Amino acid sequence: MANSRTQLLLLLTFFFFLVLLGLVQVQAQQDYLNNKQLNCSNTDPITAGYACNTSSGDPPTCQSYLTFRSTAPYTSLATIAFLLKTDTAAMATLNDLTDIESIPSGTPIIAPANCSCAGTFYEHNASYVLKDEGETYFTVANDTYQGLSTCQALEAHNPYKPTELEAGMSLLVPLRCACPTAAQSSSGVLYLLSFMVIPGDDPSKIAQLFGVTEQSVLGANNLNEDDVIYPYQPILVPLTKEPTKIVLPTTSPPPPPPAGTAPATPTGGGSSSSKKWLYVGVGIGVALVAILGAVAYWALYYGRRKQEQAPPASAPPPKKASESVTDYSALPTDSSSWSVSGIRGAIDSLTIYRYEDLQKATESFAEENKIRGSVYRGKFKGDDAAVKVVKGDVSSEIKILKLINHSNIIRLSGFCLHEGNSYLVYEYAENGSLSDWLHSGKDLLSTLSWKQRIQIAYNIADAINYLHNYANPPYIHKNLKSSNVLLDGNFRAKVSNFGLARSVESENGGLQLTRHVVGTQGYMSPEYIENGVITPKLDVFAFGVVMLELLSGREAVGKNKDREELLSSAINRVVEGDNVRDKLREFIDPSLRDEYPLDLAFSMVELARKCVAYDLNSRPVMPEVLMILSKILSSSLDWDPSDELNKSRSMSHGR
Ligand SMILES: *[C@@H]1O[C@H](CO)[C@@H](O)[C@H](O)[C@H]1NC(C)=O
Ligand SMILES: *[C@@H]1O[C@H](CO)[C@@H](O)[C@H](O)[C@H]1NC(C)=O
Ligand SMILES: *[C@@H]1O[C@H](CO)[C@@H](O)[C@H](O)[C@H]1NC(C)=O
Ligand SMILES: *[C@@H]1O[C@H](CO)[C@@H](O)[C@H](O)[C@H]1NC(C)=O
Ligand SMILES: *[C@@H]1O[C@H](CO)[C@@H](O)[C@H](O)[C@H]1NC(C)=O
Repeated sequence: MANSRTQLLLLLTFFFFLVLLGLVQVQAQQDYLNNKQLNCSNTDPITAGYACNTSSGDPPTCQSYLTFRSTAPYTSLATIAFLLKTDTAAMATLNDLTDIESIPSGTPIIAPANCSCAGTFYEHNASYVLKDEGETYFTVANDTYQGLSTCQALEAHNPYKPTELEAGMSLLVPLRCACPTAAQSSSGVLYLLSFMVIPGDDPSKIAQLFGVTEQSVLGANNLNEDDVIYPYQPILVPLTKEPTKIVLPTTSPPPPPPAGTAPATPTGGGSSSSKKWLYVGVGIGVALVAILGAVAYWALYYGRRKQEQAPPASAPPPKKASESVTDYSALPTDSSSWSVSGIRGAIDSLTIYRYEDLQKATESFAEENKIRGSVYRGKFKGDDAAVKVVKGDVSSEIKILKLINHSNIIRLSGFCLHEGNSYLVYEYAENGSLSDWLHSGKDLLSTLSWKQRIQIAYNIADAINYLHNYANPPYIHKNLKSSNVLLDGNFRAKVSNFGLARSVESENGGLQLTRHVVGTQGYMSPEYIENGVITPKLDVFAFGVVMLELLSGREAVGKNKDREELLSSAINRVVEGDNVRDKLREFIDPSLRDEYPLDLAFSMVELARKCVAYDLNSRPVMPEVLMILSKILSSSLDWDPSDELNKSRSMSHGR
């Protein structure tokens, strides 16, 4: 026993010296930004970037890492990589994600960045094109780049004065990264990661995420235990190996952020001293080998005395074993995963197609396989599918369609990314778009029957009602029109094109407004065109227009005495004033001849007219629309053309 105690004492003395040594070494690390980026006229050198001096031994370049939190519109690796100018494939591996998968908002993503010493500070150059007039150097640095850059660095790197910024200008964005100092390298640090702090974070939590000690994090940023760290500016995390996917602790939700700041909580009494021991282990290179030896000894010694002593320094949390990473070279080729029009089974397991296979399926996107616009027919192992070629970001459409499983919403079976284009592969709708059936008139031998039209209206209402009220989260389609309604082999409608769809709940819980009004003339509701107001009633309006198209066979924007006239306004002339019955007959699609129940047609027109009401509060909600349509549908299915004469009489009596 006495012998053991002497050994312990010796060991403690040894470590005490190492602690002293470690504290000295820490002085060689980077300074903390400490909110200096908030005052854009403060040009303290730290705002330019983390310091470097290659003549005093700092590495001129290195591999470094940044973190970025997924946030709209940067919610896929492809978009984040583009913003941070880094490599998508490397990010996919690091984060264990596919490159197009939509990442839930707030998820921290690790991005690799080549970091270089540019004179006196380190940087990783990205570039950004200003999107709108409201953007400033500060918002680009703080809001868009989440604090990975500073307004000072942006101003120094770009020729424009802060007052000259305009949408469309391309900015060079130097991101804050750093390379390990000689002292860090000699203690085994291979990389520095710029971790973006958000309210509620503290150094010990951050350290835990990466399996390093709090002391090593504090040391790397020249912070003391009682210093405070602030959100929206990075903190350096020294890593001794490549980082892996950040797994946020899910067991206990983080405490509410203390009014914008996150104090660096000093560690509690008992464990604090043992943490210092670990600190030494990280901070000191010269003694690394000695420490390893000592730790081994310590462990051995401890192993025998476990029962009598409190446990030593809490071990870093076990690193999550790196899970299998999406392997792009080994895509599924078995027919089951290629089945496109098969059962609506594995809805959330989208297939990642190989470009070569899409080429094969569409015969190299041959003209004769073109369905319309940039949509092609493809044959995948005997099954037809539609392949849509999209330039730019499709992650939101994928995000939505991946979550939705409704028989009246087009099913996305997979996608492919190739040379900047996205290729979305959908279930194939044999009968093409509704607008072709309604508006290309003479080209078609047959026309849609009354029953088919009502069935189609019901299907669309069902889909939109589902989107508004049952999808999780609820969505607004925003681009409903007859050309976005596809018909399958049985003339069941499938709503497609979710490129503009957005979640019903706005991020701040208030009214959603947009300055970018996009849509198709004739389908856009007045409050959207005039004020950019986005509510589910926008879809109700568009649905009303589609109903009017179904009834009349006319286009959403037509002609009246050489003037353009919206179908949504034209309908008022039909139902107002005298001779409603004659005007209605004239309005209904002549290709239906007289094979429709006039009373039900009148009910449809009335419903459609409510849907296209100018005041959004006068429009019905989708469940109400669906209920009325289901009655019209069941009456229509019972309807026999020979009854028509009697029925239409009863209607005129009803008026
Ligand atoms: C911002 O920094 C400048 C220069 O250091 C200083 O003169 C000014 O007072 C600061 N402004 C604020 C609001 O702190
Ligand atoms: C860089 O380091 C060298 C050598 O240690 C020193 O002479 C020089 O002044 C340093 N440069 C800066 C800008 O600190
Ligand atoms: C970083 O540099 C290496 C070597 O120069 C290069 O292969 C790699 O593509 C670069 N990575 C990025 C994200 O630019
Ligand atoms: C970033 O861009 C600036 C301006 O083009 C250039 O001077 C600097 O060397 C670049 N830095 C890196 C690390 O490439
Ligand atoms: C910086 O960005 C964050 C996150 O977007 C935001 O909450 C914060 O208000 C911004 N800071 C300032 C000073 O605008």
